[in-house]
Amino acid sequence: MQRNINISEEEAAKQLEFARILKESLDERKAAENREFTYHIETFGCQMNAKDSEKLAGILETIGYKETDSENADIVLYNTCTVRENANNRVYGRIGFLGKLKKKKPDMKIILCGCMMQEAHVVEKIKQSYRFVDIIFGTHNIYKLAELLYESENPVNGSSGMCIEILPDADKIVENLPSARKYSFKGGVNIMYGCNNFCSYCIVPYVRGRERSRRSEDILNEIREMTANGVSEIMLLGQNVNSYGKGLEEEISFAGLLEKVCRLEGVKRVRFMTPHPKDLTDDIISVIAKEPNICNHVHLPLQSGSSRLLKLMNRHYTKEDYLALTERIKSAIPDVALTTDIIVGFPGETEEDFQETLDVIKKVRFSSAFTFIYSKRTGTPAAKMPDQVPEDIIKDRFDRLLKVISEISAELTAKDTGNIVNVLVEEPSTQKEGYVTGRLANNLLVHFEGGKELLGSYTDVRLKEAKGFYYLGERV
Ligand code: SAH
Ligand code: SF4
Ligand code: F3S
Repeated sequence: MQRNINISEEEAAKQLEFARILKESLDERKAAENREFTYHIETFGCQMNAKDSEKLAGILETIGYKETDSENADIVLYNTCTVRENANNRVYGRIGFLGKLKKKKPDMKIILCGCMMQEAHVVEKIKQSYRFVDIIFGTHNIYKLAELLYESENPVNGSSGMCIEILPDADKIVENLPSARKYSFKGGVNIMYGCNNFCSYCIVPYVRGRERSRRSEDILNEIREMTANGVSEIMLLGQNVNSYGKGLEEEISFAGLLEKVCRLEGVKRVRFMTPHPKDLTDDIISVIAKEPNICNHVHLPLQSGSSRLLKLMNRHYTKEDYLALTERIKSAIPDVALTTDIIVGFPGETEEDFQETLDVIKKVRFSSAFTFIYSKRTGTPAAKMPDQVPEDIIKDRFDRLLKVISEISAELTAKDTGNIVNVLVEEPSTQKEGYVTGRLANNLLVHFEGGKELLGSYTDVRLKEAKGFYYLGERV
């Protein structure tokens, strides 16, 4: 059942007022100490968190903090992920390290937010063992950073404890907050928040709350503002983008939204992440096929190729459904690149189940795949399932899986060598000095000679040499 979500523009005004007050006192401190004040945000997890971090950075920059790479900043903020257990362990290690920094620099503020903080046992552990942390909040109130900073700097009744605010679920979508984007030429736009799918292994629905879509006009306005500022590639973001539109007053589907977005002036490339196979309808496929600036790349998480496991995972499709769907996508969009997510070692996974996964991979021929070892998440149904798979068997399957995936990737990239493709130049190359990295429409990367002046531009490149998951190329 859809709850009423209050769409709030007043909340943004309230938060900007807190930011204004904080700016006044920060300006005084800057003048008194004659220096800049800095922030550092460390983002763990997915695109949703990356986007949230841009919003958090937007608030801190409005207050007057400058970004720094160093964790020796005046404000250090960790935006956490809890999708797998090892993500959590990494964060605890980092918080311990921050504690040592803070001993040398007592005025430093340490802020923790994001998915991990939505779990009560995590907050309890931080309260017990990491008492130097200043502010903790979750995923549903990131818009409140300015207010929480204000409370932390102006404690009621002189108390100086941790400032903690975790909401169990979201009650509003806050529009019109500032955002400091990582790239000037491409950016993510949330189209929906939360997830209602409850895949049996996954903690995301518990930490991100129920699914709620943004009004299409709010999404389009945000994109108009982005293109006016030079952004040309838009990534539509949501845990299950193709169920977009449910519960809105307007009649709109994901296909309808895609069509509107790709026709906006200044939008050269549109991507989206992540569609769920059960909701990828033919009208979405035909919009991608028909519209030239929707990238011919579909990331379509498979998770497992075994229909038996897919049922236990609560995925609502079978191996045959998935294969038929990818066939429909390929025949409608001939040069499409398909990528996926796969979990190895889901409870009860047998060698036969694993062979089914390999079989799907060989039939679909993904250009790349994210592979994950199953991680038991307390509170999810799979955590209570019998027959957790032993570690050595998982490790063996994982290695075999990677081998098959990389062989197919290498064959696919080799096949396209020699082609001339249009790329968006994104970054100085990490592979070679004097080189830049461009992204193909199919999401693969090519490294070629070029300077920083090319960043953010589109250029034609010949793919000279396939290197497995990427290419070396030259501008033509
Ligand atoms: N909403 C997206 C992304 C969810 S998280 C989707 O449905 O695809 C990204 C990936 O993490 C998932 O696709 C899944 O492959 C993996 N994942 C989620 N929970 C996991 C767990 N408990 N153990 C291992 N991998 C997991
Ligand atoms: Fe998790 Fe499934 Fe929702 Fe993706 S669709 S976020 S895997 S519950
Ligand atoms: Fe992690 Fe939260 Fe994303 S758990 S994968 S950061 S939604």
